[in-house]
Amino acid sequence: MRFLFINGPNLDILGRREPEIYGSESLEEINSGIRETAGELGVEAEFFQSNHEGAIIDRINTAQEDGIIINPAGLTHTSVALKDSLEAFNGYVCEVHLSNIFAREEFRKSSVTASAADGVISGFGSRGYVMALEAAVSEVA
Ligand code: DQA
Repeated sequence: MRFLFINGPNLDILGRREPEIYGSESLEEINSGIRETAGELGVEAEFFQSNHEGAIIDRINTAQEDGIIINPAGLTHTSVALKDSLEAFNGYVCEVHLSNIFAREEFRKSSVTASAADGVISGFGSRGYVMALEAAVSEVA
């Protein structure tokens, strides 16, 4: 089984981006923890980060993986195009947020993309990605 982890805009600067909200780990550090769990679970993890909506959509539209675990970041609250792309993907989808978007500003409380996902994990920090992988593996198996 192969799972694709997608991180959207501004998640390339994790670690130095508002660490009180998003934590002090870099994306590379988070991804190496995910890679370790993937190894333990006997599955493959691939990683894609972009600050560009179209690049993320291009990656989803060519994805051959069994599932996508995505933190759409700011696009969560705005992107119908990203939602449509996730909707068309023929595998398991989990949306992850580091912070609890429901406990933040009003504009963050709604997700345009979440209805295209099988599940949403929000507010568990980087552990959310690992939780999503565990869920995805058991759902897809
Ligand atoms: C985020 C929450 C979004 O509102 C924000 O724009 C992000 C990160 C999170 O992981 O908590 O960039 O998706």
